Amino acid sequence: MKVDLTDKIALVTGAAVGIGRATAKALAENGARVVVADINESAARETAGQLSNATAMRMDVSDYREVEAGIRFIEAEFGRLDILINNAGINTLGHRVTIDKFPIEEWDRIMEVDLRGLFLVSRAVSEVMRRQRAGRIVNISSVLGQVPARFQCAFTAAKAGVINLTRAMAIELAPENIAVNCVAPGSTLTEMTEKLFYSDNATMQQQAKQMIAHIPMGRVGKVDEIASAILFFAAPECSYVTGQTLCVDGGWSAGGFLRDF
Ligand code: NAI
Repeated sequence: MKVDLTDKIALVTGAAVGIGRATAKALAENGARVVVADINESAARETAGQLSNATAMRMDVSDYREVEAGIRFIEAEFGRLDILINNAGINTLGHRVTIDKFPIEEWDRIMEVDLRGLFLVSRAVSEVMRRQRAGRIVNISSVLGQVPARFQCAFTAAKAGVINLTRAMAIELAPENIAVNCVAPGSTLTEMTEKLFYSDNATMQQQAKQMIAHIPMGRVGKVDEIASAILFFAAPECSYVTGQTLCVDGGWSAGGFLRDF
């Protein structure tokens, strides 16, 4: 996809690897100056170094002091902030348990990063965008925010929260010329999920097989396919859409049965 983001300043959180990195690349290739923010500073630096027009920044989205300092730095350095991609997110990988066994500290950490972190970054950035009277925010949820899965109570709750928070932000910020939309990826192949799909562990292999059997398109997504949807919401052409969630999930959330009965 080709769009014109020349002179736009974009911040992507959790941009060192995976979907965030692919999104940072797509934004940079379309002319934006990209701030690659991540809790993993050395990986952020490596990613920024591979892009034509990017700066790396350490930012833990769950730490409001770090978030606010980061946004102040961006405003001082570039004078504005046009696009925010709220991508940083975590889940439990591997060990899936029922709610009665779900560790409380795990619930807290997932909420802190996936929901509270997204709120903290949006809070600081929307102040800048309100002053500019312009901006685009794209929140990253998950298909599981639309249709829940068992054994992932914190992630499904946090990502459902992201979808409704997107709507709440959209109606508050629309009068300020700030559009807020959401992309909900289905299962997407990244360095992290590759461990699940190509594990030597037979149980994990079986889990991966079962999951793919549930996707109407019969395959997982590629990071570039998610990045294209994010790019659309950030593009000048997408000028009359706000508060929406686009599932990029190979048909998963369409919700039908794949078995005949
Ligand atoms: P990933 O795990 O490959 O990368 C996440 C990045 O976020 C890493 O660079 C990590 O260092 C960074 N990060 C983690 N905690 C952070 C924090 N507190 N502050 C700043 N950065 C932090 O993730 P992936 O798969 O690329 O996912 C990106 C987004 O898409 C996440 O919000 C995730 O929940 C969502 N998603 C991913 C799916 C998938 O199958 N890959 C499916 C559905 C949603």
